[in-house]
Amino acid sequence: MKLTVIGTGYVGLVTGACLAEMGNAVTCVDVDEQKIARLREGILPIYEPGLETIVTENQKQGRLRFATSLADPGAEAPVYMIAVGTPPGEDGSADLQYVLAVARDIGRRISQYTVVLDKSTVPVGTAERVAGVIRGELQQRGLSVDFDVVSNPEFLKEGDAVQDFMRPDRIIIGSDSERAREVLRELYAPFMRTHERIIFMGVRDAEMTKYAANSMLATKISFMNEIAGLCDRMGVDVENVRLGIGSDSRIGYSFIYPGAGYGGSCFPKDVRALIQMARQTGFEPMLLNAVEARNHAQQRVLYQKILQHFGPQLAGRSFGLWGLSFKPGTDDMREAPSTVLLRDLIASGARVKAYDPAALEVARRDLPRTWFESGQLQLVEQQYDALKGADALVLITEWKPFRHPDFTLVKTLMKSPIVFDGRNQYDPAQLRGLGFTHIGIGRGGEAIT
Ligand SMILES: NC(=O)c1ccc[n+]([C@@H]2O[C@H](COP(=O)([O-])OP(=O)(O)OC[C@H]3O[C@@H](n4cnc5c(N)ncnc54)[C@H](O)[C@@H]3O)[C@@H](O)[C@H]2O)c1
Repeated sequence: MKLTVIGTGYVGLVTGACLAEMGNAVTCVDVDEQKIARLREGILPIYEPGLETIVTENQKQGRLRFATSLADPGAEAPVYMIAVGTPPGEDGSADLQYVLAVARDIGRRISQYTVVLDKSTVPVGTAERVAGVIRGELQQRGLSVDFDVVSNPEFLKEGDAVQDFMRPDRIIIGSDSERAREVLRELYAPFMRTHERIIFMGVRDAEMTKYAANSMLATKISFMNEIAGLCDRMGVDVENVRLGIGSDSRIGYSFIYPGAGYGGSCFPKDVRALIQMARQTGFEPMLLNAVEARNHAQQRVLYQKILQHFGPQLAGRSFGLWGLSFKPGTDDMREAPSTVLLRDLIASGARVKAYDPAALEVARRDLPRTWFESGQLQLVEQQYDALKGADALVLITEWKPFRHPDFTLVKTLMKSPIVFDGRNQYDPAQLRGLGFTHIGIGRGGEAIT
């Protein structure tokens, strides 16, 4: 099948590459000309395991091509997938300017039956707005062309995106049009080898499903972080509680890891967007408000623990930071808890040496210039270099190389053997046995006042 994916970010590039891998002829379009030029040379704009191989191979085979505009002669297709960003607007609601710009562009070009898929995460009612914009453009052109706008939210996880796309838990198709459903049944058939995974529903239902899924996961995380806060104050080890409740199949082990708060380009913005959607209907989302508030507080818990340990004077102190990306397996630093901690540490006069296996380039590009110019933030290329002369190690992203480090070496490098374990990766007893002070999240006996 011939199709065009618009937006070549984390979602669009993975979508385009995986659909090309299944034999489709895919054009990926992005307005970022530099990104497209680099992609044509096989240089990926993001770090995502396994993606480079399929992009390179499919480009070589001519199944995957890149363009900077829908005006590109090869970009006309019976299926358009919108995968542009929907960043938070000032009030937290999703900013639809990019989605609607693409809709206008599509309306200016189509001349035969077309299926338009919203893959971006968009508020309930957006497909209707996209259809309205396309209809308006067609009217201006004096044309009557059939088309369907379908909600097809994406559930891939950064770090596992290729695997998730190739073996999805489910594919949500929101459309009442049997004609569109037929096209999408065919498109997604190669991903259904073991069993049917498409769930058909109404377009608004599909739009809500995406927000409900991310908000549910964010709720689990915030719930566990709240329990961890209690555990810290009550001499309880949250890791035992986690095992105790995760073993209940109704609860399960996933998304109940206490930590430094959730971040990334999805959970924070999607929870906020759902809050805004609720308020626009006059319904106060009490639970979602709490999920969001807990996460804000949680992103500052490590800093509070640092203050509690060292006192309010951090000027002259030096911290080794392991992890910058919002989670392992990606270079994405959007709303990463690391940036909140860095902001607090730097504002209080501390110095930080930070290492991340994938996000150093993004950090160099996106973090404030002044942090580097003042010498307060230094990025290092080797994980142990972050610890030289450090007053403490702060682990904030649980990348695999951080899970089982050489603590004997760690101890020799640091000024004082203190570990703030923001992801509960280490055994406190073992670290204490090695002469470290270990401060985790909700491990009990570390009350914050
Ligand atoms: N990142 C994720 O893990 C993930 C997972 C599921 C859903 N989503 C949703 O998917 C959408 C895209 O997310 P992302 O992380 O891939 O975004 P991104 O910021 O990585 O990429 C968006 C791309 O769209 C391009 N773009 C903007 N306007 C354009 C236009 N008019 N024409 C062509 N290209 C244009 C930008 O240049 C950018 O390259 C968002 O709605 C997001 O919420 C993201």
